[in-house]
Amino acid sequence: MLRVAVIGCGPIGNRHADIYVMDERSELVGVCDILPERADAAAARLGVPAFYDAQEMLDALAPDLVSVATGGVEYGSDHYEPTMQALNAGCHVLCEKPICNEIAPAEEMVALAREKGLCLGVDLNHRFTPAARLAKRWVEEGRIGHQLFVNMAMWIGNPQESSPWFMIKALNPHTVDVMRYFAGDIEAVHVFATKAPGRRIWSTMQMNARFVSGAVGNLTASYDIERGHPMERCEVAGVAGRFVLEDMWREATLYPAGDPQKIVYTNPVFGGYRDFVDTFIDRIHTFTRQVSEGVPACRPSRSTARARTASPRRRCWRRPSSRSRPRPSPTCAERLPTSYCRCVR
Ligand SMILES: NC(=O)c1ccc[n+]([C@@H]2O[C@H](COP(=O)([O-])OP(=O)(O)OC[C@H]3O[C@@H](n4cnc5c(N)ncnc54)[C@H](O)[C@@H]3O)[C@@H](O)[C@H]2O)c1
Repeated sequence: MLRVAVIGCGPIGNRHADIYVMDERSELVGVCDILPERADAAAARLGVPAFYDAQEMLDALAPDLVSVATGGVEYGSDHYEPTMQALNAGCHVLCEKPICNEIAPAEEMVALAREKGLCLGVDLNHRFTPAARLAKRWVEEGRIGHQLFVNMAMWIGNPQESSPWFMIKALNPHTVDVMRYFAGDIEAVHVFATKAPGRRIWSTMQMNARFVSGAVGNLTASYDIERGHPMERCEVAGVAGRFVLEDMWREATLYPAGDPQKIVYTNPVFGGYRDFVDTFIDRIHTFTRQVSEGVPACRPSRSTARARTASPRRRCWRRPSSRSRPRPSPTCAERLPTSYCRCVR
């Protein structure tokens, strides 16, 4: 049984905590928030001790696994410190997205996990669905064939005004993760963005991408459309076929090339996904299962290794020196924010 603690008791931290309580592989042992009223409320609700300081909780409870559900600026500025504290305390960590707002500290987080032999997962839950797994199988079985293009789209309503890049950085870890899940690493992107009436941030964008495989991609993302209707769609096409994944768990349709018949998976009424919360349950259960089964801990991703050897000519975003923060080169900065290009890793 994994002893689990949660750092950050906002809506998402509470959701993680609820899921650990339900998980047969985990026991929730404590919760922490720097806002005492949030920690106290979660602790009272869940029947575990409250802490107001992450290090104190780690010292007192020595958990096996920690969820970091802090947020901060652009939803990512507060993830680094508690993640490093938890890894240094010997805990496996499931960190909310985005892993961090900047590349250099994110790399430090991964490097520390690797050095300690611990699992560091990021809660990119949108592809943790039976429909997405089926679509992945179609890719692996060659039913899409040589990939040609990916069209990804996601739109929700989020009126928060943070940095100009808030929507791009906070929403799109999910969409880019889904694109990479099906089509592999992306080597170059180009973005146009716009502001909805009354907004000060780049609240809607379109990104063109080139995958390492040679396939091309497109991503449309928006914080300007209220929920209610479907909100996410992924289409992947190759020479052998094309699939469309609607709302990530609702429906997956395979259109084999040259065949008038299609194959449709529809979320079942009995035993199917009830709502978006089930993607969190699946992702967190997958993490506790993997940690319990002793999956190999952090290792360098192919994209990281590739980025380290990529030609500098192709970059518009300068690679930071080991601990410095990444800054756009003057050429890029001049073009920002209406249009910018950078290599994604
Ligand atoms: N995976 C998803 O689908 C999904 C959906 C929504 C939000 N999120 C992510 O979840 C995270 C949290 O979202 P939220 O809406 O609950 O945010 P929130 O701001 O309401 O809650 C975060 C809490 O963390 C606390 N905190 C910050 N630093 C801390 C520290 N060092 N130690 C202890 N507590 C600390 C804050 O006081 C706050 O109460 C964000 O990173 C967001 O991007 C993920």
